[in-house]
Amino acid sequence: MYNIAVAGTGYVGLVAGVCFAEMGHQVTCVDIDSKKVDLMKSGISPIYEAGLEELMRKNYSAGRINYSTDYKSAYRDADAIFIGVGTPEQPDGSANLSYIATVARQIAESVEKDCLVVVKSTVPVGTNDKVEQFIHDFLVNDVRVEVASNPEFLAQGSAVRDTLHADRIVIGTESTWAEELLKKIYEPFKLPIVSVNRRSAEMIKYAANDFLALKISYMNDIANLCELVGADIQDVAKGMSFDDRIGSKFLNAGIGFGGSCFPKDTKALEYIAKQNGYELRTVKAAIDVNNDQKTLLYKKASKRLITFNGLKVAVLGLTFKPGTDDLREAASLVNVPLLLEQGADIYAYDPVGKANFSKVYPEGEHGRGNITYVNCIEDALEGANVCFIFTEWGEIKAISAEAYKSLMRTPLVYDGRNLYQVDAMKGAGVEYHSVGRIPAHREDSRESKRLELQTFRS
Ligand SMILES: NC(=O)c1ccc[n+]([C@@H]2O[C@H](COP(=O)([O-])OP(=O)(O)OC[C@H]3O[C@@H](n4cnc5c(N)ncnc54)[C@H](O)[C@@H]3O)[C@@H](O)[C@H]2O)c1
Repeated sequence: MYNIAVAGTGYVGLVAGVCFAEMGHQVTCVDIDSKKVDLMKSGISPIYEAGLEELMRKNYSAGRINYSTDYKSAYRDADAIFIGVGTPEQPDGSANLSYIATVARQIAESVEKDCLVVVKSTVPVGTNDKVEQFIHDFLVNDVRVEVASNPEFLAQGSAVRDTLHADRIVIGTESTWAEELLKKIYEPFKLPIVSVNRRSAEMIKYAANDFLALKISYMNDIANLCELVGADIQDVAKGMSFDDRIGSKFLNAGIGFGGSCFPKDTKALEYIAKQNGYELRTVKAAIDVNNDQKTLLYKKASKRLITFNGLKVAVLGLTFKPGTDDLREAASLVNVPLLLEQGADIYAYDPVGKANFSKVYPEGEHGRGNITYVNCIEDALEGANVCFIFTEWGEIKAISAEAYKSLMRTPLVYDGRNLYQVDAMKGAGVEYHSVGRIPAHREDSRESKRLELQTFRS
């Protein structure tokens, strides 16, 4: 078993640290945020991830994991230091590597024995060469330090499961020593290991993420066309999914991808290509489609309604996907300000995202609009003129078509995640707009006109 330090306790670092401890390694998780560290020491996870807190407590009581802001002590005698700090997007689309550089310098000034530095953060191809050089430039003690790439593929919302049961572990190394050590660290996971050179490992991460982003944008593009030609994207996706070459995952149309990875990793790869004199047209298209897709329903609703001013607008789902409290690049963050600008009286519901969202939009007035956070879906829908669905939480999916009809003043629903059957919504008397499906109101324009009038009278 190895003595492991992990720099950064976000979605990647903390989950990795806890899973290494679960596998029997001795782990110290380091973060610069002392509030986070205090929270973790008391057994509370600073992020929401299913199953994470249970493993944190179990391994903390067993003495296999600790949390600290004292990087010197943590790095001093570590066999391996995993870096999981953020690499956020900069205005030009490139990745901000300043957090990585800070950790690299801290490592160089702290290590007192041979050690492998493993970069888990998503970094542009060639970054790990520079990190290694940077560490050597600042190294204080005469020890061997090498850098390996070990990109992370977990998905937020299922991060613990994805780590313990990953499809594969990618390691990028430049020496047998580094390769063997990393393989031994991962041995207890009993997972397939793909061992390549450092630059290929860095590229695998971007290529995999951007491929998934492309798949989503492709389906959204096709969904938009389906609406124009009278086809149904869910039937189309079903028909496609039986083809093994295509697969059945990531075929859901909706209002685009968000989160901390796809948006920034598509832009970063496009930037890397540009830096190398190449235009990555496919990825650029995925970005463009996604940008338009995020406000698709807002634009549809704006055409359908004269104004949002003074209307009660139910917003269901704030996080970028279910199972996480993360708001980064969430559709809600694009649409809520548009609705507020137009004077909407928003009633927002999310099972875990309210606390983070209210830090950005505190409850109360925002210009002409207003936002109120509610604890149950029914309170958001009660008397609402229109409802927007931005996240596919199970509890939102469980709401019946009849509930929209009976609770809302005018049952007008814009569903960005295609949660319900068009027929069921229509049958219940709900005017239902989703993505890439034949809108129910087209088939009954009189009912639509009646709802339209009712909306403006209320
Ligand atoms: N979030 C994901 O689903 C996901 C999946 C795969 C890969 N990644 C990549 O992993 C990296 C981390 O992502 P994240 O979402 O976990 O980030 P995050 O923002 O949630 O967490 C980063 C953490 O690093 C800490 N930190 C900053 N500087 C530090 C320092 N010098 N020493 C110790 N801690 C420091 C911050 O306080 C923060 O807690 C990114 O490169 C991201 O692209 C993320």
